[in-house]
Amino acid sequence: MKVTIYEVGPRDGLQNEDVTLPVEVKRELIGRLAEAGLRTIEATSFVHPKWVPQLADAEELLDGLPRADGARYPVLVPNERGLDRALERGVTDIAIFGSATESFAQRNLNRTVDSQFDMFAPVVERALANGLRVRAYVSMCFADPWEGPVAPEQVVSVGRRLLDLGCYELSLGDTIGVGTPGHVEALLDAFQADGIGPERLAVHFHDTYGQALANTLTALRKGVTVVDASAGGIGGCPYARSAAGNLATEDLVWMLDGLGVETGVNLRSLVATSLWLAGKLGRPSPSRVVQALAKEM
Ligand code: HMG
Ligand code: MG
Repeated sequence: MKVTIYEVGPRDGLQNEDVTLPVEVKRELIGRLAEAGLRTIEATSFVHPKWVPQLADAEELLDGLPRADGARYPVLVPNERGLDRALERGVTDIAIFGSATESFAQRNLNRTVDSQFDMFAPVVERALANGLRVRAYVSMCFADPWEGPVAPEQVVSVGRRLLDLGCYELSLGDTIGVGTPGHVEALLDAFQADGIGPERLAVHFHDTYGQALANTLTALRKGVTVVDASAGGIGGCPYARSAAGNLATEDLVWMLDGLGVETGVNLRSLVATSLWLAGKLGRPSPSRVVQALAKEM
C-alpha cells in the first residue's frame, strides 16, 4: 500500500500563525519539505490579502520558489481574480474550497452555500481549459462552531457538486477537529452510497481534540490513500477560531512507517525542519512525534 501525503503546512499552517514569516523563510521551508521527500506541497493562497495577510506575498513566493523534481505546488484559489493571479505565475495545480454550512460559507467566502458554486464554476472551467489540475475542499464536514453537527448528506451534496465541476479529488475537511472515527466511517459510507468511492477522496483533519490520527487510520482502512497533513502540526483556520493545527505530518509518517506503508518521506529530516520552523514561529511544535524525536537529535 502507498499513501500520498498532501502537505499543507506552508498554506494551512502559516495562514493561522501570529507570526508572518519573511518570504525567503517560506521558500526555505518549502525547499526543505521537498528535500524531506514530500512531493505535493500546498504553497500559498491567491485569496484577498486583507482576508489572509500571512499569505499576501503569494506572487513573490512563487517567483523565487526552488522546485524539486516531480514535485507539485498547488495553491488555493477561490475566484476568478485569484485564478488570474495564479495563471500569471504559471501555477499548474489549484484547489478551490467550499463550505458544507451556510455560516462558514458566509464567514470564509462571503457567499451562501449555493452562491459559492457561481464563484467556483468559472474558476474550474477556465483552469481546466488552461490544463491545470483542480482539487476541491469541503469544509465543516462533521460539525460547525455556529450550527453544531453537520449531517453526512449535507456534506455529500456539496461534495458532489464540487466534483461535478470537474475537480479530480475532494478533500474532506474537519475544519475544527471535532470528528471521531465513527463520524468518518459514516461520512465515507454516505459518499460511497452516492457513488463516490475512496479513490476520489482525501482526508483533511485538524487535531483540536487529538482525534486526527485515529480518524486518518479509519479513513485508510476504508480505502482512502491521500492524506493532508502539516509539518509540525502548525496552523488552523483564521475564519474558524476553534480550529487547531492540522494533523502533524510527522505523526502521520511515524504511524505509516510503523505500518510498513510507503510514503517516500524521511522522518528525521522532516523533524529537523519542524524544529527549525518552530524557532522561526517562536513556539514549539505541538506534534508529539516532533517532541519525542527532538530529544534524540
Ligand atoms: P469578497 O469581499 O466577496 O470579494 O470576498 P469581491 O469579489 O466582492 O471583491 C472585493 C474586492 O476584493 C475587489 O477589489 C476584488 O478585486 C478583490 P476592489 O475592486 O474592491 O478593489 N479581490 C481579490 N484580490 C486579490 N485576490 C483575490 C481577490 N478576490 C477579490 N482572489 C473572497 C470573497 C473569496 C475573495 C474572500 O472571501 C476571501 O479571500 N476569502 C478567503 C478566506 C480564506 O482564505 N480562508 C482560509 C482558507 S479555507 C481553509 O483554511 C479550510 C481548508 O483548510 C479545509 C478545512 O480545514 O476545512 C481549506
Ligand atoms: Mg484546513
